[in-house]
Amino acid sequence: ATSEQKLMTAIQAPVAHSGSKVTIVGVGQVGMACAFSIMTQGIASELALIDVMEDKLKGELMDLQHGLAFLGNIKINAGSDYALSAGSKLCIVTAGARQREGESRLNLVQRNADILKGMIPKLIQHSPDTILLIVSNPVDLMTYVAWKLSGLPKERVIGSGTNLDSSRFRFLLSERFNIAPNSTHGWIIGEHGDSSVPVWSGVNVAGVRLRDLNPAAGTEADTENWGQIHTQVVQSAYEIIRLKGYTSWAIGLSVSILTKAILKNSRNVFAVSTFVQGIHGVEQPVFLSVPCVVGENGITDIIQQTLTEGERAQLQKSAVTLNEVQVNLVL
Ligand code: NAI
Ligand code: LAC
Repeated sequence: ATSEQKLMTAIQAPVAHSGSKVTIVGVGQVGMACAFSIMTQGIASELALIDVMEDKLKGELMDLQHGLAFLGNIKINAGSDYALSAGSKLCIVTAGARQREGESRLNLVQRNADILKGMIPKLIQHSPDTILLIVSNPVDLMTYVAWKLSGLPKERVIGSGTNLDSSRFRFLLSERFNIAPNSTHGWIIGEHGDSSVPVWSGVNVAGVRLRDLNPAAGTEADTENWGQIHTQVVQSAYEIIRLKGYTSWAIGLSVSILTKAILKNSRNVFAVSTFVQGIHGVEQPVFLSVPCVVGENGITDIIQQTLTEGERAQLQKSAVTLNEVQVNLVL
């Protein structure tokens, strides 16, 4: 008998695959931040990491596995074969080019669409009932591309969207109030990045609205210049990319909280990129972020925020801009 047989009396075979399997495609800075965040919070029971760089994959796999004794028994696999992703409840896509210093997200569009063309059908082949969470930029357009390529219902294809922008917004607001970011509420909707829309009417702490304290907040007439905070949110990624080359930790945490909502069917509300044709007067078939209820079957509801005419017009303008790029994509 082997030492293993001497150690234990077998009663039955263990379950090979548990229910909360997550695949991450792209093990660059963002993919690994997502993996680390999901792993350390015990959100998934199984992680499959897929990339084209075999050596990097192996190194990242070993490095993560060597931390498992400090956490729990998360099963981690890595490789370039999409068969590893079979049976995933959620597939997170972070593969692709990122912006160079000063470059806009929209610049990446056809390069990253081409990468998705090779990948999305393989993910669906191995996990036909999966949910896709798209992170690769420009994320709103890539979410549309993934939806088209996957054949999944639109509510199962989600873009990480302005969940990150909203978190940046809340952090910066919280610094001005000197209270905790998660006690500071505010939403950024629309396009992730350059044309995002801050919903000033909703900024509040404990239900006390900033706009009731300062009716001009976020407008040109505001002597306190709250609007500067949105400018900072839009500049954030450019600034971080200039300073460290890429952004990773906050997007990793944003993705992990969305992963948790999906795997645990939590029905939390997040600003994520979803199909918005017909919402807030948007006419084009585009994906943009609005507050959505997220659960095990993807997006179940869109929260009907009361927007000003200006905010609606901004959303509609982003939709027109995105659609102009979208119709020229070669899929
Ligand atoms: P990175 O260059 O560190 O990693 C990209 C990874 O994708 C590399 O490991 C590469 O080998 C892999 N890859 C490329 N082609 C592939 C293919 N065909 N199949 C599988 N893997 C492939 O880049 P980083 O910093 O991780 O960024 C990834 C993406 O995430 C970029 O598009 C970036 O703009 C985006 N991003 C999105 C954010 C958001 O809020 N939506 C936030 C931060 C980054
Ligand atoms: C972000 C990426 C670059 O951190 O989209 O906003």
